[in-house]
Amino acid sequence: MQTSVNLNAHRLRAGMVGLGMIFDETYRPLFEQLHREGLYRRGFGFVSVELTAVASRTGVRGERLRQSAGSRLGPFVNCSGDKAIEQLLAQPVDVVCVATPDDRHFDAARRALQAGKHVLIEKPSVLRLQELDELQALAQKQHVLAKVVYHKLADPDHKKLRTHVVEGVLRHVNNGYCSLLEPKQISGQQFAEWITGRNPGTYVAVHYIKLIDFTFGPALPDGARLARIHATGQRGLVGPANGPTWDSVQLQMIYSYPDGREAAFDIHTSWVTPDNFPGYVEQEVQFRFDNGVWNAHQRKRGVEVTVEGQTPHAIKNTPNHHYNATFLEPWGERSQRGYGIEVLHRFFEEAAYVEFGGPADEREERLRQMRALTYNDLSADRPTVATVQAMEAILQRHAAGQPGCVVSVNEPLGGLVLRAPGPAEVEVLYPGSV
Ligand SMILES: NC(=O)c1ccc[n+]([C@@H]2O[C@H](COP(=O)([O-])OP(=O)(O)OC[C@H]3O[C@@H](n4cnc5c(N)ncnc54)[C@H](O)[C@@H]3O)[C@@H](O)[C@H]2O)c1
Repeated sequence: MQTSVNLNAHRLRAGMVGLGMIFDETYRPLFEQLHREGLYRRGFGFVSVELTAVASRTGVRGERLRQSAGSRLGPFVNCSGDKAIEQLLAQPVDVVCVATPDDRHFDAARRALQAGKHVLIEKPSVLRLQELDELQALAQKQHVLAKVVYHKLADPDHKKLRTHVVEGVLRHVNNGYCSLLEPKQISGQQFAEWITGRNPGTYVAVHYIKLIDFTFGPALPDGARLARIHATGQRGLVGPANGPTWDSVQLQMIYSYPDGREAAFDIHTSWVTPDNFPGYVEQEVQFRFDNGVWNAHQRKRGVEVTVEGQTPHAIKNTPNHHYNATFLEPWGERSQRGYGIEVLHRFFEEAAYVEFGGPADEREERLRQMRALTYNDLSADRPTVATVQAMEAILQRHAAGQPGCVVSVNEPLGGLVLRAPGPAEVEVLYPGSV
């Protein structure tokens, strides 16, 4: 007996806003893989996934993508210019991924949610809690998913750290540091166009802000809660020494436990490290617990390689093949894989589960289950966005000649309250509860 399966019966059509570095590294290999293989899980069956439309500022990258992808992607509409997002939303898309510079996430995500699309946003989701409130309300109203990508939560080392914490092997974190140093080419070339007024903390400390909050924070029954934020930094290389653009940032987040004990985390970031320093991106963490210490160095966990004329630029000296790499598989296939791609794949599984994981009248329950996933739901991104908002406000005050401000969280005057040194001056950055 011959059975025929309609492979197009269930499909998700994706729109991609922003075709920059992160698109090339992670979304593009994902869409190629999904175009080739589709998505399958017993819970929702086979779902075909296609990149249906892309939007960027000039359209040049979309055209380049069309030419270089050949048959690895299906046909897609290339939208550009001031009306790019509008054009993209006029296409029959079910899911919209947003990977524009971080101060442009909100507008694209808001419009996609208003149009009733599931949305996935690159980190940090947005820069202010006021924006997050609006996106969360829209996602509720439109009955769709609104999620954010923090791929470091899918790094096996960070998963094991959290597993130890949840299982009580590592008990009660007291303090820790994280450092992430980017090469100069990020601030000088990659982001030169939108760097004015920006800082490396929002760009990369946010990975660790989320890791700390997700691993030690409110998701745990006796977890700690964000209490205060301090920040300072240096200027003078990317922009003028008295200007609003930061070379490096040192952020401190203080968490408090229900029993009154506190935990403090220092996160150091820079995007002015010399281009030829060994790591390309240098990432290190140390967390100290009541009964242990966790030390991790992201580029010293395995391979060190030298190739004449190729390292450290074309090939990294200490590459992280776990995040994302191209491989010749033992069975002969070429592939590109790693947790940076896995975490996006997982979002498509979540959207497929909502749409196709059972009867239509149970969709709301499936939506509820997927929203309850705190690793990526916008509703669980509040402490991270609060920290970014506080850090940016502190740096802005600093640039305006008032260094040393502190922001406290969920206190009588409001959810985020900034205090400057000197005569009692208070600014409520966010009145509601974080
Ligand atoms: N997960 C990670 O580790 C990681 C790494 C790098 C970047 N990112 C995030 O991804 C996002 C994009 O970073 P990138 O490095 O790819 O940036 P990029 O500068 O390389 O690319 C930005 C893209 O957005 C497009 N764009 C800009 N404004 C737009 C608008 N208004 N409408 C439509 N398109 C617009 C540009 O044309 C370009 O294609 C940022 O939020 C960044 O924080 C994440």
